[in-house]
Parts: sequence; structure tokens; C-alpha cells
Amino acid sequence: MNLQLRTKNMISAAMAVGFAIAQPPPQQPPPPQQGQPVDPGARVGAAAAGGALPGVTTGEMTMFRAGKDAFSEMEQVSNGLGPRFNLDSCGGCHAQPSTGGSSPSVNPQIAAATRAGALNKVPSFLSQNGPVRVVRFRQTPTHQADGGVHALFVVTGRNDVPAACKIAQEDFSNTANLTFRIPTPVYGGGLLESIPDSTILANLAANSAVKQQMGIGGKVNRNGNDGTITRFGWKAQNKSLMLFSGEAYNVEMGVTNEIFQNERDEDAACAANGSPEDHTNYDKLDPSDVVKFTAFMRFLAPPATGPVTASVTNGKNVFGQLGCALCHTPSLNTGKSSSASLSNQPVPLYSDLALHTMGANLNDQVSQGNAAGSDFRTAPLWGLGQRIFFLHDGRSSNLVDAILQHAGQGSEASIVIQRYNALPLSQKQDLIHFLRSL
Ligand code: HEC
Ligand code: HEC
Repeated sequence: MNLQLRTKNMISAAMAVGFAIAQPPPQQPPPPQQGQPVDPGARVGAAAAGGALPGVTTGEMTMFRAGKDAFSEMEQVSNGLGPRFNLDSCGGCHAQPSTGGSSPSVNPQIAAATRAGALNKVPSFLSQNGPVRVVRFRQTPTHQADGGVHALFVVTGRNDVPAACKIAQEDFSNTANLTFRIPTPVYGGGLLESIPDSTILANLAANSAVKQQMGIGGKVNRNGNDGTITRFGWKAQNKSLMLFSGEAYNVEMGVTNEIFQNERDEDAACAANGSPEDHTNYDKLDPSDVVKFTAFMRFLAPPATGPVTASVTNGKNVFGQLGCALCHTPSLNTGKSSSASLSNQPVPLYSDLALHTMGANLNDQVSQGNAAGSDFRTAPLWGLGQRIFFLHDGRSSNLVDAILQHAGQGSEASIVIQRYNALPLSQKQDLIHFLRSL
């Protein structure tokens, strides 16, 4: 797209992503339960995330910046938006506490529903102060397994679509058939990519006696074709940042690209552009957005931690003693990388990148690769301190609740949560302070 238009769109995208500053949730958190600690909410102040890794080369920094611009850009139909979409920019969903993060406090999907004259109805499960949500259907109308993402909005009515385009919004009224996912942050994406499969497997096999005592197993998810470990997404269903970029561009925004060439809905009247809509500019040797998004996420630094008080230090010990760290591995190392900034680095992710069975309470009835309905990737906890919404469907905005939700019929975390419940209140509070320091 031309530079002038790009700048204009970036400014509006920056406005739409809600001023990238950590904000406490506007709604009052639930009153503390008897015997439970208080979650003080998202750490306020400047965002502790969003910059590039230390030690990137000049070229890597140039691509990081170009990638950040592309990631923040608000797309129009002429750039490929639609015909179906969930939002019009990557940075709108990945916004808190800065570009690349998770769901912001004000849901940008509400404004996007009617932007540029679009006529979409906002489904009942989206709200101004609720999380960004992407929706999957559990079953098809004929009761076969579905599990796929159903885009919430259409471009019909926008002032930039062909007049004949009348594609209709899907019906989301059967809420019992829906399951939600909120955005996972993409900070430290390149570090996650650079952890060797052998490191993940060795970590999963470590401490086997104590894991067994606690009822903790775990397994990796794998790519069907080359057999290597997949690690991105709530179910570790996706292989790489580039693949996720191509998929998200098509699924979330309706922008066809060099990895996913075909519109998910090939409505002829709405087909405004040739495919792939995002592509390498061969005449200018200018890489595609998918390549740029990848560079932004690859060189994006992990979130910085907050102040370490005595309570935080104690909470970190509690986290280890309870057994949280048996799944939420504090640190794994990258292997040898072709980028020095990613090579042989510690990655303080607080995850084993493996799948665990989380029981009936968290089961979303969606299978992806090795992950069955109740299996989820141990959520990386880095950056938790400035997050607003938690768990795959964003059901919690309170860390105490997020911990308690781990327990459920058949959950591998049940014993650890029993141990948490048996703690004196002051130790529980220290644990929450530790989590808010991440
Ligand atoms: C409508 C909101 C939305 C938009 C727009 C969006 N994402 Fe996401 N993103 C999500 C959700 C939801 C997930 C979790 C998906 C899952 O696991 O099913 C996610 C996960 C990711 C992840 C995985 C990170 C991890 O460690 O799990 C990457 C990478 C990513 N998105 C990149 C992008 C890029 C690049 C774009 C723009 C092309 C984009 N996203 C646009 C909602 C969005
Ligand atoms: C058996 C492995 C396991 C154990 C033990 C475990 N967790 Fe988790 N944790 C997970 C998984 C898997 C998820 C993602 C679940 C989901 O979203 O449905 C998660 C999610 C979380 C989240 C929400 C993160 C987010 O991105 O929304 C927090 C906070 C958390 N865990 C803290 C803890 C604490 C504190 C403990 C110890 C008391 C603990 N966990 C013990 C596996 C575990």
C-alpha cells in the first residue's frame, strides 16, 4: 500500500488499540472470597514489554520496526480485509500492555463491527469491557465435530466494498455450541521458537517421581507432516510464528497471503482483490506482511518483571513448593540460532510448552492434533503482571480465580490446587504478588 495511506491507517490503528498503557480493568474485581488473597490487578505504569531483544543486528531492527508497523496497521478492504473477519488489525487483539500483548481493557471488536459503515450486530458474548474473543463452533449443524473458527463479522455495508457484496453474518445465537479463545501474547516469540524439541522433551521427563505423586503427566503436540513439536496457541497446535501469521491474517482478518492463498469464504460478489492479497513485492524486493509480522514477533523481547519485594521472593518459593513449577517451568534455554540475539539464551517463560489434561472445568470440546478437548498448553506466565484477562476463554480477570479454575474432574492440576487451598492466607497472598511481578 502507498506510504501516505499506511501512515494514516497506522494512526487510526494506534487509536483503536486503546493507547498501549497498562490499565486496570474498568469493572470492579469480584469481592475477595473467605480465606482467599486479593489480586491487586494489572501492574500500573509504563508497559514492561514491547521493545526488541537486546543485541539484535541493524538489519534485524529494521525488519522488527517494519513488522511492528505492519502488525499495528488497520486494514481496509482494498488491503484484503474480509469478506469475513474478527478484527481489522493484529495489534488490536494483541494490545495489552503494548503492541504484541493480549486483550486490552476496551474490546476493539465493538467499534470494528460498524466501522466504515459496516452493519454487523455485536454478538451477546462480546462487551465493551470484556475480552477480545475469537469463536469456535463445537459442532456442525448436523452434529459432526467442528472446532473451527467462525469469523464474527462481514464487510457488507462498508464504504469500501463492491456494491453487490451482501455476504451475511453467521448466526451466533446458539451459545451452547460456542467456545471462546482470547489472544495469547506474542512477546518473546522468537525465543519460544528457538527452544529445541530435545530440551522440551528432557524437561517433560525431569522430576518424574514427584510429578507422578502429584498426578501430573503431560505430552507434546506435534506437526502432522514433519513430526516436530508444535508450541504456539492455547493447545500448542501451531508450529511457527510465520505459520501463525499467515493463518491469523486469513482467519482473523480475511487477508489471503503467501501461506494461505484462498479466502475462507469465496463469495464472488465480495471478491475485491486478486489473491494472495498480501504478497512479496517482487519489483521492489519488499517482503510480504507475513514475513514482517514474523520478524516483529521473533525479535520482540520478553516482558520485564516488576519490583522484587520480600513477598514476591517468598511467593516464588511457594510457586515451586506447591508444584506449580512442575508444569509452569520457570526457564528453558534456546539452542544455537542463526541470530545471535536468540542463540543459547535463557527463556523465562514459566511453561513446559507441553499439553496437560485440565479436566471437565476447562474442557472446550475442541481437538487439535494431539490435544483433546480438555488438553491445554501450560500457559506461559511471563507478562502476567500486566494482563487483564486469563485462561483460554478469558473467563477470569482475577488471578485467584484463574488458579482455582485449574481444579476440576480429571485435572492434572487438582492435587497442586488442593495444596494451594491448604496454605495459610499470607502464603497465598505472596504467591499472587509473585505472579503480579511477572
Ligand atoms: C481477532 C483477534 C486477533 C487478531 C486480529 C489476531 N490475533 Fe493472534 N491470536 C488471537 C487468538 C484468539 C490467539 C490464540 C489462538 C488459539 O490458540 O486458538 C492468538 C494467538 C496468536 C499467536 C500465538 C502466540 C502463542 O505463543 O501462543 C501468534 C503468533 C499470533 N496470534 C499472531 C498474530 C498475527 C501476526 C496477527 C495479524 C496477522 C494476529 N495474531 C491477529 C487473536 C487475534
Ligand atoms: C498440570 C499442569 C499445571 C499445574 C500444576 C498448574 N498449572 Fe497453571 N496452567 C496450566 C494450563 C494448561 C493452563 C491453561 C489452561 C486454560 O487456559 O484452559 C494454565 C493457566 C494458568 C494461568 C492463566 C494464564 C493465562 O495465560 O491466562 C495462571 C495464572 C496459572 N496457570 C497459574 C498457576 C499456579 C499459580 C499454579 C500453582 C498453584 C498452577 N498454575 C499450576 C497448567 C498447570
